[in-house]
Amino acid sequence: MVNRIDENFDKKMNAGRDILIIGGGIIGLSLAIELRSRNATVTVLCRDFKQAAAHAAAGMLAPQAEGIPPSPMLDLCLRSRSLYPEWIGKLEEITDVATGYWRCGILAPVYGSQEKGVRSQESGVSTWLDKNAIHQFQPGLSSEVIGGWWYPEDAQVDNRAIAQALWAAAQKLGVDIHEGVTVEALQQQQGKVVSVQTTAGNWQAEHYVLATGAWSNQLLPVPVYPKKGQMLSVRVPADKYKELPLQRVLFGSEIYIVPRQDNRIVIGATSEEVGFMPNNTPSGIQALLARAIRLYPELQNFPIQEFWWGFRPATPNEMPILGSSPYKNVTLATGHYRNGILLAPITAKLIADLIWHQKADPLLSYFPYYGVNRF
Ligand code: GLY
Repeated sequence: MVNRIDENFDKKMNAGRDILIIGGGIIGLSLAIELRSRNATVTVLCRDFKQAAAHAAAGMLAPQAEGIPPSPMLDLCLRSRSLYPEWIGKLEEITDVATGYWRCGILAPVYGSQEKGVRSQESGVSTWLDKNAIHQFQPGLSSEVIGGWWYPEDAQVDNRAIAQALWAAAQKLGVDIHEGVTVEALQQQQGKVVSVQTTAGNWQAEHYVLATGAWSNQLLPVPVYPKKGQMLSVRVPADKYKELPLQRVLFGSEIYIVPRQDNRIVIGATSEEVGFMPNNTPSGIQALLARAIRLYPELQNFPIQEFWWGFRPATPNEMPILGSSPYKNVTLATGHYRNGILLAPITAKLIADLIWHQKADPLLSYFPYYGVNRF
């Protein structure tokens, strides 16, 4: 909800801040770091870091395995994937936090020949493996698997580690981060936001960024809504395996199995339109386990480690909303749906170019606030 300025508003509080980012998830923090490294003065207001979708994700960098058809969205995803090595390198250098970035490739096995054509094969390297080849390449798959696509350039990162690294880097670089502050309303005058009203008083900046993920339409009428994902993890029993039985991500139909180098295996995810209803459910976990065991029966006796859930910021056309808003001094960076971890570096770069240098990359025009398919 956007409010008009209140007469009692304290104009002095935080005056002179260049940029105030609402949202301290992976998108807000990545952008804060990018802007700070261009010498902007940046404040981040974060309601609850633990609730950020980044903590719930699996960390796949999977433009090809996600089956995104050739489109500006695929271009955005591929550009972001290619930024990852350098972006991670800088982040790890600043913080000394290992992010688990692993160019392990993603294997997308299929059970029936009709599934072969579903995924995009036109961009990036991909190889079709027939039945013999896939079972040789990846022992332990279900005997029902008749072949699959191999995407050697898709990768993964440990999403929780990267969230920690971003937080640490932002602090180290002098981003002014405030956790536990909820923005309640944007106060506007004559087409500009003049302050934000929060649980910790009013804050003012020259420019504002909305990066509040699944919660974005609590502040502006953007078509972003939560899509819940439930997940779990198991552990490879170290006494039974000399080396990791899975050295690449498996991406099946409605299931992915993501092996980490520390013996964990992350299994995800449901996709549920249940608003912000919290918790894991027996049916959600049962479905994940059944699909995971079907695809990779090897894991049926692995010890379960953890269950969790999170809320993806979904949009009607499954594309993020990047760039200008109805307010001259508010920029949008939200709605990253299934690809927030993947799209963090390119979002940070393009939005920083836009805000700080008024340079609009042509790709941004495909991710507008008023898109034809938005409502
Ligand atoms: N990126 C995978 C998911 O959102 O489940």
